[in-house]
Amino acid sequence: MKITGAAKLAGVVGWPVAHSRSPVLHGYWLEQYGIDGAYVPLAIDPINLRRALQTMPMLGFAGCNLTIPHKEEGLRAVDDYDASAKRAGGVNTVVVLPNGHLMGSSTDGFGFLAALRAQLTGFNAANGPAVVLGAGGAARAIVAALLDEGATEVRLVNRTPERASKLAKELGGEVRGIKWEDRNQALTGAALLVNATSLGMEGQPALELSLEALPTDAIVNDIVYVPLETNLLAAARARGNPCVDGLGMLLHQARPGFEAWFGVKPEVTQGLRDAVLGTLTKP
Ligand code: ATR
Repeated sequence: MKITGAAKLAGVVGWPVAHSRSPVLHGYWLEQYGIDGAYVPLAIDPINLRRALQTMPMLGFAGCNLTIPHKEEGLRAVDDYDASAKRAGGVNTVVVLPNGHLMGSSTDGFGFLAALRAQLTGFNAANGPAVVLGAGGAARAIVAALLDEGATEVRLVNRTPERASKLAKELGGEVRGIKWEDRNQALTGAALLVNATSLGMEGQPALELSLEALPTDAIVNDIVYVPLETNLLAAARARGNPCVDGLGMLLHQARPGFEAWFGVKPEVTQGLRDAVLGTLTKP
């Protein structure tokens, strides 16, 4: 769709930003809903983040997404942030309020839960122990979302144990740090397994994990989406575990921002998945 002089504006702020799939994702929705709007990539050097964000209201932007490496610094670059950003330890969505103030939130936890619920009816975080591999930004948002949804036990497995214990301390609740060497046994009796590390991603080392101790009805979710079918998901699927791929979280985390900027509640459809997948297979 062609834009007019009245087009609503939003974008994604990253450094670099060329890898971001968000322009394709939001561009697909703008087209699908016939909205007079544009969503553009904004390459902003970290030293300029605050200044760049503060000019958004002047430029008429409705808001933006923040991606690597800006999420954490985003907490300091906005005027205010909500409980989701505080819990996740970062901002991925910025909305310009009517008074011109920048409000930050994190929709990563929302995206994680929505992706699970979209692919599996009846997901309940309180169903049993969850094992989360990783203690970076993504893991933090996921663990926080699980705790907020009533998870009674989260086993947090990370290569660097200090990072896991720091996260456990900050989030409170029933989070237990587990050594990376003990990851196979940690799967015993689990209802959910999430890989929130970069292992298994194209160009990264493989995730070495034996699923032997994992109950076959446990849900397995990999946040890695390149490749879409990771070795973890393939192994889990082969033994009958219900699986959720990493594309779901990427697509669902985009929904609240789009609605706030463009005024339409967007849907995650097969068409959208295909459009974004098409960009993942290209170099
Ligand atoms: P993000 O913010 O996207 O989650 P990150 O903060 O770089 O990214 O976190 C990456 C996660 O993958 C971390 O949990 C990291 O473990 P460390 O905390 O020990 O660094 C994990 N990871 C990356 N490479 C790994 C490897 N070779 N073996 C085990 N874990 C690894």
